[in-house]
Amino acid sequence: MDQNRIYNFNAGPSALPLGVLEEIQRSFLNFSGSGMSILEVSHRSKWFDDVINDAVIRTQRLLGLDDTYHVLFVQGGASMQFCMIPMNFLNSNASADYVNTGTWSTKAIKEVRNQGKQASVVASSEDRNFSYIPKDIPFNSDAAYCHITSNNTIKGTQWSSFPEIGGVPLIADMSSDIMSRPFDPAPFGMIYAGAQKNVGPAGVCLVIVREDMLERVPDNLPAMLKYTTFVEKKSMYNTPPCFTIYTIQLVLKWLEEEIGGLENMEKMNQKKAGLLYQTIDDSDFYQGTADRDSRSLMNVPFRLPNPDLEQRFIKKSLENSLGGLKGHKSVGGCRASIYNATSLYAVQALVDFIKVFEKKNG
Ligand SMILES: Cc1ncc(COP(=O)(O)O)c(C=O)c1O
Repeated sequence: MDQNRIYNFNAGPSALPLGVLEEIQRSFLNFSGSGMSILEVSHRSKWFDDVINDAVIRTQRLLGLDDTYHVLFVQGGASMQFCMIPMNFLNSNASADYVNTGTWSTKAIKEVRNQGKQASVVASSEDRNFSYIPKDIPFNSDAAYCHITSNNTIKGTQWSSFPEIGGVPLIADMSSDIMSRPFDPAPFGMIYAGAQKNVGPAGVCLVIVREDMLERVPDNLPAMLKYTTFVEKKSMYNTPPCFTIYTIQLVLKWLEEEIGGLENMEKMNQKKAGLLYQTIDDSDFYQGTADRDSRSLMNVPFRLPNPDLEQRFIKKSLENSLGGLKGHKSVGGCRASIYNATSLYAVQALVDFIKVFEKKNG
């Protein structure tokens, strides 16, 4: 590893594959023989066309999407999707099901209600501080759609499999676990993910929408808030964030060509998370905060015996080249985000540090 680089456990923006960063560096001044950097080429040029088309095709291939799914790049982050979803897919006489598993689901529900529309919270884990994924959920068979958050970045919980809800389209915020494992896309009417965790830098939301969902989009929405605009104009109604999309293309290429696809990625993620959870479980000093059967493979929150020790842990970890281990400001404690690009070496270095810190302070 470069002497000046640290092991990065940030929750997002977060670690990118080193090979991707090096590729960007290599081609920075003269992108694809254009004589310009990617920051300078026109989004209407053949150079950028190749980039965005390749990013779309790789997304389809990695996720096993058939041609009923459109792959879009939308600005405004995942938070913009919280409001675009009800605007596009929920009319005022209908109701949508939402499962509330934490901060991000709560925000998504709020955006529905802000529009004077109905969100039915069919299950919530708020009673135990969002430490688990609810089971046996009474979904409504007449819901317009059902929205879940597949991985809860702050509380470190994750749906290990997706709920069976018959014909109701499932919509998932996969911001913090997209491309971390394979899944069957068929029940999904829509999937979205802020790029800045598993697929690239901040600046764009990857949106995957099924053709039949587009029939619901009202004509009178502003152009930039309609999924149909993004479909018709292939995500280029206006100037897209070219650099972000280029980086995503490289990350997807890395996933396909270096990692070998999502089955392999999942195995690696299981290995990394297994190592870290085992270390926490073997100790009485550290305490995981999520229920075991709901644990996330991507975000691992944990507590130490008191806040002073947590502060010391975070300070000392940084001195040992381990960054980003502070828990989200709303919950405190510590959190290691171990997304796709965080290597097993990085997790091993963290585990070694965790053990040494306990010996000295336990
Ligand atoms: C699961 C989840 N959803 C949504 C968001 C919000 O994403 P953005 O900042 O792209 O709006 C985040 C951000 O961390 C997240 O983790």
